[in-house]
Amino acid sequence: MSRRKLVVGNWKMNGMRAHLDEVEAIGRVAAAHPAVEVGLCLPATLIMAGSERRGAAFIGAQNCHMDISGAYTGSLSAEMLLEAGASWVITGHSERREARGETNADIAAKSAAAHRVGMKVILCVGETLEVRDAGQAEEVVAAQLLASLPEGASADWLAIAYEPIWAIGTGRIPTMEAVAEMHAALRAALASRIGAAEADAMRILYGGSMNGDNATDLLAIADVDGGLIGGASLSATKFAPIIEAADQRMAAAA
Ligand code: 13P
Repeated sequence: MSRRKLVVGNWKMNGMRAHLDEVEAIGRVAAAHPAVEVGLCLPATLIMAGSERRGAAFIGAQNCHMDISGAYTGSLSAEMLLEAGASWVITGHSERREARGETNADIAAKSAAAHRVGMKVILCVGETLEVRDAGQAEEVVAAQLLASLPEGASADWLAIAYEPIWAIGTGRIPTMEAVAEMHAALRAALASRIGAAEADAMRILYGGSMNGDNATDLLAIADVDGGLIGGASLSATKFAPIIEAADQRMAAAA
């Protein structure tokens, strides 16, 4: 099964109008590498303006509410984000699971809400260092994935991102063997729930201190189908080498 590589930037709480030039530059890099699907999950304030300058990159959001509308001060529904120009949304990022107390059930509901309005979803999972050191990473993350997986999960609209919490923003990444084992374990867990063919088609991204130096090795792992990138997605100069590395893997696999 050849899965199209998916390389997505998560700008988190970064980016002002002045940074729209970077969105445009990244959109141009995406256009130069059509074999790779490239996106930028922007802060909500930049989605509308960013979507006008996105080039060949898609624009995504970083969170959505699970309901369509209502008395939820400060929240945004999937439908609102879609109308603003976000075709994808991240759900279950550890920065929201941990700081906002989002549960697996919340994440499944948010993912399903996004799908209902026609958005695509990147659902994040990942372990703490404590769990990794206890030798329980695969078991814990596979269970987290199955508990957050929305009804009707399918490769057409859902991708998974494995983001070890201790690797986010730290410059540390797991060994290539550990990444390979985790991605294989997650694909097996998916197969147990949605069937082997659908699991085989679903993209599983790696996230956590991915950059131009380690992308080639990470993207060469059989079950790594792309990346979810924070810091190194904030400028076209840093992001382009990751997109190029994905393009080279696509060419090598063709
Ligand atoms: P960094 O690439 O900055 O480590 O962030 C990863 C991440 O959390 C992407 O969602």
